[in-house]
Amino acid sequence: MSAGVRVGVIGMGNVGPAIASSLRAAGARIVGVSARSAAARDRADAMLPGVPLLTEDEVGRQAEILFLAVPDGQIQAVTEHLVASGGIRPGMVVAHLSGAVGLDPLAAASAIGAIPLALHPAMTFSGTSLDVRRLQGCPIAYTSSELARPVALALIEYLGGVPLRLDEADRPRYHAGLAHAANHLVTLLVQAQDVLESAGVDGPGEAMRPLVEAAVERALTEGIDGLTGPVVRGDDATVNAHIASLEADPELRDVARTYRSLVQATRVALKGDSAEPLVLHTREQLRRALEDDPRPTSLVMTMGALHAGHLSLVKLVARSGHKVVVTIFVNPEQFGEGEDFDSYPRTLEEDVAALAEVGVDIVYAPPVSEVYPHPSRIHITPGPASTTLEGALRPGHFAGVLQVVGKMMNLIRPRVAVFGQKDAQQFVNIRQMVEDLDLPLELVQAPIVRDEDGLALSSRNAYLSDQEKVQALALNRALELGREVLDGGGSGEEAVTKIADHLAASPGVEAQYVALAAADSFEVAALWTGGSSSLGVENLTVLQPGSEAYLLVAAQVGPARLIDNVTVRVKADD
Ligand code: PAF
Repeated sequence: MSAGVRVGVIGMGNVGPAIASSLRAAGARIVGVSARSAAARDRADAMLPGVPLLTEDEVGRQAEILFLAVPDGQIQAVTEHLVASGGIRPGMVVAHLSGAVGLDPLAAASAIGAIPLALHPAMTFSGTSLDVRRLQGCPIAYTSSELARPVALALIEYLGGVPLRLDEADRPRYHAGLAHAANHLVTLLVQAQDVLESAGVDGPGEAMRPLVEAAVERALTEGIDGLTGPVVRGDDATVNAHIASLEADPELRDVARTYRSLVQATRVALKGDSAEPLVLHTREQLRRALEDDPRPTSLVMTMGALHAGHLSLVKLVARSGHKVVVTIFVNPEQFGEGEDFDSYPRTLEEDVAALAEVGVDIVYAPPVSEVYPHPSRIHITPGPASTTLEGALRPGHFAGVLQVVGKMMNLIRPRVAVFGQKDAQQFVNIRQMVEDLDLPLELVQAPIVRDEDGLALSSRNAYLSDQEKVQALALNRALELGREVLDGGGSGEEAVTKIADHLAASPGVEAQYVALAAADSFEVAALWTGGSSSLGVENLTVLQPGSEAYLLVAAQVGPARLIDNVTVRVKADD
């Protein structure tokens, strides 16, 4: 940039005067500045004596390099106005000073052949002459075309800054990082001064200055390793005493809230890249952890022995911004006499490692004594969807499921809870409980996850030998054949028979039932039971044309009792 180059600055807020003064000191000619408010005009007078105060159009007309030091939301309108009035012309440089936006709002200037630049000094400005010194050595983020890059670098050099190249798309995040550091630090320090003052400390700012300066220095050089204090020591008693003392003063309740979320954020930061979830075993630990993180919760309930099916439930909610809580609990109340409660696979360590990979915040894995400190006196009674099929073969099963699901929902109070479609009858029962008891949450059903051969993933697949796994493929194959029957206009009964026939011809598979049931009510429309019993189905229902239904099977394969289903749509009447 040659000395004497004509520079104009529109906007005399906190940044504009610092830019104009620095360039003036570097030899540029400040041809004029514009200011809208009286305070801005006073600032211009004080920091830029002798520089003419002009209209925005006039500043533009006089300048070769024009800075738009206006609020982010005004850059585009000012640019368009100046292009229309001749204040921005082909060949001139037009730079704005916003952090969060790039070249987009300068589109009108580049459309007529002006050179747009986005320059952002990563500094806090006070609108006084101190700012000029602050610009020396200050990083200045720039976004420009490749062609305009030398111009951006020259301007940054004149300002005394250090260039930092940024892509257009990265600017909002870059700016969020800076705002989080510099702006929120101010909020935090003001809160901390209030707390010290309420504890009778005179001159709280000075009292905390050496500590704060040392902490900032350590954070910037050592990162999270520079952290000291009760959270890093795992001293929950002290943390709780802090929170209690803040909460005791109504004036400090906001501070208590900020303190809690920063304790949680500090714990997360200490966990580092591994994103290990908090693994909790008691209701009290869970209550505290939920309180510490005020985000809404998404809940995934499991009995552990996790596989890709469970992880798919977690992935559905992991990016929602909610905190994700996964429960791992083999619930004795849903297992009947002679069922596999004792042998059900329990693999907590592997489960937690798998959950760490998909972004889970809390794993709640209580012992039975914590969930049922005494035998339940009050029970949730499931409705008609609990008495057929699985409910008939496993008496008490759905009552046990609803008992534990109801308990966990009350403890965890999720905004969203996700369950898998493989347990379709369970989902209908849970949905009826949520509806009938007005539980304030959204239920989501996630599709079945299958291996590459089509076998529905299940923790009980762990019981199968390699040969039995191959035999178990017959379940999915049979369901697909049933679906083809329905798609081809066949009746529910024909579809169910087709499935049963296929299973009967499949070695190693002993079908227990095949059914077609309405997806909303779980009323059964067609049933095969091999002649044993009616499995609680007293009358078959007629499905509404166009409604959704499930084709379902249950079968014994080797040591494992497996269930599977597919969704079908009942043909609308022609
Ligand atoms: O679907 C399951 O794994 C269980 O039935 C559930 C919902 C976790 C309740 O124990």
